[in-house]
Amino acid sequence: MKFFLDSAILPEIEFSFRTGICDGVTMNPSLVKKAVEELQAKGEKITLELYIRKILKAAKGSPVSIEVTALDAKGMVMQGKRIYKNFKAANKNLNIKIPVNPCFPGEKGKEFDGIIAIKELHKAKIPVNCTLIFTPEQALAAAKAGADFVSPFCGRIDDLLRKENGIQFGKEDYYPAKGLSKDGNVLEDNGIVSGVDLVKQTAEIFKTHGIKSRIIAASVRNARQARECAIAGADICTMPFGVLKEIASHRLTQEGMKKFTEDAPEEYKKMV
Ligand code: E4P
Repeated sequence: MKFFLDSAILPEIEFSFRTGICDGVTMNPSLVKKAVEELQAKGEKITLELYIRKILKAAKGSPVSIEVTALDAKGMVMQGKRIYKNFKAANKNLNIKIPVNPCFPGEKGKEFDGIIAIKELHKAKIPVNCTLIFTPEQALAAAKAGADFVSPFCGRIDDLLRKENGIQFGKEDYYPAKGLSKDGNVLEDNGIVSGVDLVKQTAEIFKTHGIKSRIIAASVRNARQARECAIAGADICTMPFGVLKEIASHRLTQEGMKKFTEDAPEEYKKMV
């Protein structure tokens, strides 16, 4: 499974690529807003375009997803083509992030605009990462339309199951892949018992039907969830910087380091 960094913070991106284990970057409008506002608060006068160019350069040709903001198929296709034309020279593996369905809560009539936009961009040979996926059938529809990547949002499914059932939780708290039981029933959202289960069911369907779109497990909250996404069949896991750091950590590693350092004889240290 590949590791992508889910961040728009340039120093985090640069550092992650230096580790050698980062294979790509995903961003969304909320992440870009946060990163740019942090810079502006420090008094930096950088344009958004220049900032994105720096991110694309930092990714050294690895995939980077940039999301559209339009809310209908025509607008998404137009923005997708414009982003691709403007930035593809800066990163040959740029892909356009398209929401599977751009309707707001309660809105109707544009349910297929994301799918139509994916089909059009695919026809224009522009790679697409289909985002905001919460069911395997949304992933299937996006893949059928030609999405190169589909992004099921694990953490947000777990958040929803806890919120709807009055369970208190912290953002990074682990949610069991097999689901949580309440009053003898496993909590579920239309047959999905956890974010990892969403990835697992999607991966099973893709395998059964020979679908080539790659699954990016997104909205990942902790290292254990990233591990379970790998077991569930995700091709890629996109994670915030904090989760990437957690992946390298265990308290026994630190304790072991301390002991080995204390025990190493001077002669040994000179020899190595
Ligand atoms: C994916 O591409 C999204 O940017 C992201 O994973 C969303 O994560 P969140 O649910 O933590 O906001």
